[in-house]
Amino acid sequence: MFLKSISLFSVLVGASVTVRKTGQGPTGYEVTFRYENVTASSITVAGGLQPFTDSYHATLSGSALYDPHNYQPGWFFANYFGPPKDLPYQMTSMGNGSWVYTTPLPSGTYYYAYLINCLGNTTCDIDSGKYVIDPDEPPFLNVQGDQTQSTFQVPFDPEFQYDPDINLNFDYALPVDEAHRGTVHNVNYTSPGSVHPAQDVHDFVIYLPHGYSNATSKKYPIMYLSHGGGGDGQDWQNLAQASHIVDRLILEEHIEPTVVVMPSFYNIAPEYKQVYGSKHAPAVAPSAPVVRENYMQYLMPFVETTFAVSTSPSERAFAGLSLGGRLTYEMYINATDYFGYFGIFSGATFGGPTSYVNASMIAAKPALREKGIFTSVGLYDFAFDDIRGLEAAFQANAVPFLGRVVPFGYHAWNTWQDCLWFFGRKALWKSLPFEANAVS
Ligand SMILES: *[C@@H]1O[C@H](CO)[C@@H](O)[C@H](O)[C@H]1NC(C)=O
Ligand SMILES: *[C@@H]1O[C@H](CO)[C@@H](O)[C@H](O)[C@H]1NC(C)=O
Ligand SMILES: *[C@@H]1O[C@H](CO)[C@@H](O)[C@H](O)[C@H]1NC(C)=O
Ligand SMILES: *[C@@H]1O[C@H](CO)[C@@H](O)[C@H](O)[C@H]1NC(C)=O
Ligand SMILES: *[C@@H]1O[C@H](CO)[C@@H](O)[C@H](O)[C@H]1NC(C)=O
Ligand SMILES: *[C@@H]1O[C@H](CO)[C@@H](O)[C@H](O)[C@H]1NC(C)=O
Ligand SMILES: *[C@@H]1O[C@H](CO)[C@@H](O)[C@H](O)[C@H]1NC(C)=O
Repeated sequence: MFLKSISLFSVLVGASVTVRKTGQGPTGYEVTFRYENVTASSITVAGGLQPFTDSYHATLSGSALYDPHNYQPGWFFANYFGPPKDLPYQMTSMGNGSWVYTTPLPSGTYYYAYLINCLGNTTCDIDSGKYVIDPDEPPFLNVQGDQTQSTFQVPFDPEFQYDPDINLNFDYALPVDEAHRGTVHNVNYTSPGSVHPAQDVHDFVIYLPHGYSNATSKKYPIMYLSHGGGGDGQDWQNLAQASHIVDRLILEEHIEPTVVVMPSFYNIAPEYKQVYGSKHAPAVAPSAPVVRENYMQYLMPFVETTFAVSTSPSERAFAGLSLGGRLTYEMYINATDYFGYFGIFSGATFGGPTSYVNASMIAAKPALREKGIFTSVGLYDFAFDDIRGLEAAFQANAVPFLGRVVPFGYHAWNTWQDCLWFFGRKALWKSLPFEANAVS
């Protein structure tokens, strides 16, 4: 019942990365990377492929740095913080221009790019602009450079990966069978002042569920799903397999067929220009009120006149991670009546307690108590305190909400996949109000 539609496949991705079911420990799966470069003196598989930890060695700012060759159940994929960044994914030269790296990996979505001649050079990371994208497994993107890493998924094998203390099965992000898949598209739209992908043109990614047609009178519920600081609208699809997760939420009947729009909050004006794919200073993020006004003026009207989506607030949701979680909170406070559901993932206010809901805000706007709010944050996530503080403010003010702590969670994509999956399973389009917490 849990995973209706995963077929048993032995080779999952393109020529240069193969995921093979081995039927042996340590994980039951082996991943082989292959790359050709005759002149290179070292090649590292880098990016989102990071060392592992277990919960006994995970902290807010560190982890065990385990090599998955020594995998044991209960290990999870952690954010890696400091130098050296070369551990442990060094490819081996075959002496003829071919480079190979083979490793067991446990269940999860991984993203990567190759770093050439960077061994031992701690400034030569994925942001240095020296990465090479896997030509056989290109990223999902709209314009070259928008995304710099390719993605693959390793299935769960209960024989080798089951741990009684923590569920680390990410198979909900595997593709469903072809007959039930929705489609994913990049869309350009007119947004005066935008500087990317062209002057006065901005873009978003749209997921249309299986069977979608805009030629019928049916109007689909719509969820806006935001990226975070430094990211863009392609992130959710390229790095987190968002369409696979939503396909499965629909197939398993956790949610009705839903359209998902993944917008970009950078580039909406020249002062927020994001230069992708190289070591540039990170763009200045527009403040959440600026993004809200821009989206309400250009994005939402375009989406609602172009696609068969509902215009009923009870069938509109906004969700986002990190700075996108801050943006979701903004929508909750300042676009309260426009949406029915809010998913605040790993980021709440970044303004601390003075920005949390309080009695006078609720007195002025009672609707703040009538929404479908879902908060979620990783146990090892730097947004933990802010989310938990916001939850306490909700509780103190009798605002119903559902909260989740992701037990393996850093401020990272595997946390946000879990946030999306559980937002869909527990909160999205569910009857309101949610049961309020009793105040003890
Ligand atoms: C191959 O390696 C050389 C360094 O020897 C590097 O300059 C070049 O960009 C690499 N090319 C590709 C396609 O990986
Ligand atoms: C290099 O040698 C390996 C191992 O024999 C082989 O698998 C690979 O195809 C060779 N690469 C090229 C480019 O000939
Ligand atoms: C280390 O990498 C940086 C960034 O790519 C580069 O500028 C620098 O020359 C490299 N240093 C060495 C010793 O190769
Ligand atoms: C959006 O516009 C950019 C810049 O003109 C173009 O490169 C890209 O292909 C367009 N994307 C779509 C989906 O039309
Ligand atoms: C209908 O859907 C397609 C994408 O599937 C889109 O290009 C088109 O603009 C939509 N809207 C209308 C009114 O045709
Ligand atoms: C909501 O709007 C007010 C007034 O523009 C602004 O001060 C505040 O920062 C906005 N966001 C939140 C979360 O209160
Ligand atoms: C409640 O929040 C509003 C808006 O942020 C703020 O102006 C007001 O001072 C707060 N009231 C209390 C009692 O903290």
